[in-house]
Amino acid sequence: MGLPNPKLFILPLVVLILLLHIGEGDVQLNYYSGSCPRAEEIVQEEVQKLYQKHGNTAVSWVRNLFHDCMVESCDASLMLDSVNGTISEKTSVRSFGMRNFKYINTIKDALERECPMTVSCADIVALSARDAIVLLGGPYITMRTGRRDSRESHINEVEELIPNHNDTIPFLLSRFQSIGIDTESTVALLGAHSVGRVHCANLVHRLYPTTDPSIDPEYAEYLKGRCPNPNPNPKDVEYARNDRVTPMVLDNMYYKNLLSHKGLLLVDQGLVSDPSTAPFVEMMASNSTHFHRRFSDAVLLLSENNPLTGDEGEIRKDCRFINRE
Ligand code: HEM
Ligand SMILES: *[C@@H]1O[C@H](CO)[C@@H](O)[C@H](O)[C@H]1NC(C)=O
Ligand SMILES: *[C@@H]1O[C@H](CO)[C@@H](O)[C@H](O)[C@H]1NC(C)=O
Ligand SMILES: *[C@@H]1O[C@H](CO)[C@@H](O)[C@H](O)[C@H]1NC(C)=O
Repeated sequence: MGLPNPKLFILPLVVLILLLHIGEGDVQLNYYSGSCPRAEEIVQEEVQKLYQKHGNTAVSWVRNLFHDCMVESCDASLMLDSVNGTISEKTSVRSFGMRNFKYINTIKDALERECPMTVSCADIVALSARDAIVLLGGPYITMRTGRRDSRESHINEVEELIPNHNDTIPFLLSRFQSIGIDTESTVALLGAHSVGRVHCANLVHRLYPTTDPSIDPEYAEYLKGRCPNPNPNPKDVEYARNDRVTPMVLDNMYYKNLLSHKGLLLVDQGLVSDPSTAPFVEMMASNSTHFHRRFSDAVLLLSENNPLTGDEGEIRKDCRFINRE
């Protein structure tokens, strides 16, 4: 027996160097394949278990992605609690109605048991949204990982960067444009409002003192039944479902509802009255494959908005707190 072929040594070495090298760069597919091979599987298992216990956690993962990624970066800044001078983004008026925050640590704890201090909360925000979208009947989206967690809350930017329920469509489009999401993709993203709920506090201005004439009259009666009080206490659990027909399915019913004047928020119904978005509403309403494809592309763009990578930020131990030095 002679010496083994030197190629047998060189090839693994090259692969190792490549792995080490790309390991510190940008977000990439299967970022955790070396450091925590079961990471994505664990996230998926936990998201499924939570969905079986509390179905609406799936809805929350989808909204979390928007509220985290739209504000500067997909960096789990949204998940920080108010403590030691940090003011939580969860306390912003824009976070009104958000729920199920505590369950991100259910996922994080499962990951910490398998591979401590390895998987970022920011990647959990992204992957949980991906897995929730599948549970809600939406498309499977191939996502890169390797995002790192912020060391600060962006509380002062939240109101400026996340549109309000009554903002104009041109304003909405410009907000999304600024992170590389075009008009058609913005229309597709709003399709997330095919699931979940809207509290009466965000609706009553369309019902009282006079009913917005753009609402289907029968639907307006239904909404008034759901929200009989013109001045609801925001703390009351009074709400209407985003989509009365298929409330827990991420389908194109949202666009069909808009075309029949059953949009809930002003921004929803506005997509039909604005000539730059209306043709896309019609397209999404008539072709659900098209909606799912454009929705996937848009979610991917949102999920990769300006991630922290390399030695930026940190890997939090607990998603609610910045690590202590
Ligand atoms: C720019 C436009 C948007 C505005 C103004 C907006 C506003 C709102 C408002 C006011 C609510 C209801 C909150 C409540 O009363 O409880 C809501 C719910 C929701 N939004 Fe948006 N949203 C926008 C875009 C998005 C995007 C891009 C996504 C995700 C990709 C999203 C996902 C959701 C989900 C899933 C819910 C339901 C939450 C639940 O039932 O717990 N929204 N949104
Ligand atoms: C807040 O600061 C105090 C004092 O520095 C420290 O003991 C505590 O662990 C900090 N809490 C968190 C959650 O970082
Ligand atoms: C939009 O809604 C907010 C409450 O969320 C309200 O304070 C504001 O006056 C409304 N703006 C317009 C232009 O109606
Ligand atoms: C629906 O959209 C898909 C994807 O964009 C496209 O391939 C297909 O041709 C469309 N179907 C119709 C009937 O327009």
